[in-house]
Amino acid sequence: MSAQNEAKKVAGRRVIQEFVRDGMKLGLGSGTTSHFFVRELGKHVAAGMKLTCTTTSRSTIDVARGVGIEITDPNDIGELDLTIDGPDEIDRKFNMIKGGGACLLWEKIIAHASRQMICICDETKIVDCLGGFPLPVEVVQFAWKQTERMVARLLADHGIKDVRIERRVRDGQPVVTDSGNFILDCRCGPIIADPAPLELELNRIPGVVENGLFTREAVGMVVGCFDGTSYVKM
Ligand code: 5RP
Repeated sequence: MSAQNEAKKVAGRRVIQEFVRDGMKLGLGSGTTSHFFVRELGKHVAAGMKLTCTTTSRSTIDVARGVGIEITDPNDIGELDLTIDGPDEIDRKFNMIKGGGACLLWEKIIAHASRQMICICDETKIVDCLGGFPLPVEVVQFAWKQTERMVARLLADHGIKDVRIERRVRDGQPVVTDSGNFILDCRCGPIIADPAPLELELNRIPGVVENGLFTREAVGMVVGCFDGTSYVKM
């Protein structure tokens, strides 16, 4: 296993040790780091830990069931105690870009349904300023090029100019999210200095369903390092 994957696994183990307790209602995040965590969690469930879990993507449902974790419909779970999820980028104030796996909408809904969100990542995800990772914006399919123009205009109003925006494609086909929408990846560069207002304003554009800025959710992060150690920052 690569050092980066080992670091992700270490973060998953540490977050369980520090934050997961018997009887909790948990939101399970998406992406490779979250999937390492879910597989570790499966061992605790097999050993008798009682949890009620819901997920932020169809892919995580599959991973969780594969390790014996039962999944509850988010409509039936009420308020969650904790969501654990990974970022594509995170700054030192826990502002994040998420959505590299196209799950940002469900991830944000579940994060907001939780009393707490803790982010898990390897050390490569920590940045001084967001935007090096393309910012995903989930848009409805109807008139998506019109929505794209409005997104470009808003980014320019925020001083983020010359942004290259691309509809996300995989294997030659547009990516369609778990909710049936497209993803626009906005290549801003590491210059998103004030992400909180931008997050809100992007969501006011008709056609935008959600965007990958998470500026109000995480209360802390658990970081796995390439040397096999980990740390918690709250
Ligand atoms: C999916 C996400 C993922 O949580 C994010 O992309 C991190 O993934 P990974 O742990 O594979 O780097 O936001 O929409």
